[in-house]
Amino acid sequence: MPVTILIGAQWGDEGKGRVVDWMASSADIVARFAGGDNAGHTVALDKDVYKLHHIPSGILHENVVSIMGNGMVVNPVNLLREMDLLREQGVEIRPERLILSSRAHIITPAHIALDEAREVSLGDAKIGTTLRGIGPAYLDKTGRSGIRTGDMLLDIETFAERLTDGIEAANEVLAQQGMETLNPAEAAESYLEAALKLRPFIKDASTYLYQALRAGKNVICEGAQGTLLDIDHGSYPYVTSSSPTAGGALTGLGIGPLFVERVLGVAKAFSTRVGGGPMPTELDGTVAQHLRGSGANFWDEFGTTTGRPRRCGWLDIVMLRYGVSVNGLSELMLTKMDVLSGLDELKLAVAYEIDGERSEYPPVTNEQLDRAVPIYECLSGWREDISGCRSFDELPAAARRYIARVSELCEIPINTVSVGPEREQLVANVVKQV
Ligand code: IMP
Repeated sequence: MPVTILIGAQWGDEGKGRVVDWMASSADIVARFAGGDNAGHTVALDKDVYKLHHIPSGILHENVVSIMGNGMVVNPVNLLREMDLLREQGVEIRPERLILSSRAHIITPAHIALDEAREVSLGDAKIGTTLRGIGPAYLDKTGRSGIRTGDMLLDIETFAERLTDGIEAANEVLAQQGMETLNPAEAAESYLEAALKLRPFIKDASTYLYQALRAGKNVICEGAQGTLLDIDHGSYPYVTSSSPTAGGALTGLGIGPLFVERVLGVAKAFSTRVGGGPMPTELDGTVAQHLRGSGANFWDEFGTTTGRPRRCGWLDIVMLRYGVSVNGLSELMLTKMDVLSGLDELKLAVAYEIDGERSEYPPVTNEQLDRAVPIYECLSGWREDISGCRSFDELPAAARRYIARVSELCEIPINTVSVGPEREQLVANVVKQV
């Protein structure tokens, strides 16, 4: 059973890219199963920083095959740009190493325009999307009018016709909302060029994966976004339009559950969120600034895809417990522990008080969640710089206590913690000692 599913256990940006990169040295295949270029996975390696939006983080390992699965939505023009940027950084991109499922869906220029139009029309109630056209692309998928990546293998005139039909339909909606319409032929042009270049990468990824799994290959399913942004399990409607949870890995790649061995959750040692929607432990003031960083470093809390400052707050155990249950996590990894250094006191939201009642799981409605007051447990902080620690024993006692308490409250082993952005800045084998 060689499949490991790796899931963001919070609102995304947990540092999944760096974890996948670390684990990929023992993998044969790394596969993305949901989302599109709304994701921004950053991997730091020997002073180089790689920013991945569609392409799995496994691409940085020579012997790994990277797959973009059927559950994804793909912008062909942006994907080509991403490939070119990686090539400029010395990464080899060829069809033997990178597979694009023929059953993924295409994000068209119409989807991007519609994403913006919808956000404008929502006013203050906007979702705060990444404006990459994600929602409208999934809407067309479920409405059975989407264009699939496999359609790029059709004769180019037929593909062009599908694209322009979609753009003309979107124009009607844009015009109704007083938004600028698109010139169908012009908007489609760069897509046709991209389609021709992407053709060699398009394959039946599910069959490829099945054969690889039967042959005993190790597969890591790389989650994008996070559990609390899941279309079913997140704080709807303030969610993305895909299934970034463990179940999404199976449908988004076309693999069966009996192959799955581990479901690993990645959680930041504190909470962040981008975009709108409830976030009970959100802070402002000096602690939030401490957690967010100044923006001078790529690992500070500013969106990789949009550059937006992220909302920051204390670690929300109520939400994390929910992430553990919804995904059936077998273990947890805590990232960015080093960021907590220098805070005298740390808080964990162990429960919520809602209308006078204590709750250890998130409430049913967003309205109740808006009224939730976190019940905090306070722990001592530490002042030491822990970025050089490589073993559990080297961590200050307060950091060890923090990890142990999170593990206890979530009733899950914590295997590994990260103490910096570089590949080797990890403390592994924590579970044996907590
Ligand atoms: P969309 O996925 O662009 O439609 O955005 C929907 C919501 O998900 C917004 O709140 C975004 O900020 C959030 N979101 C989408 N992708 C990411 C991500 O990779 N990290 C964090 N938040 C994300």
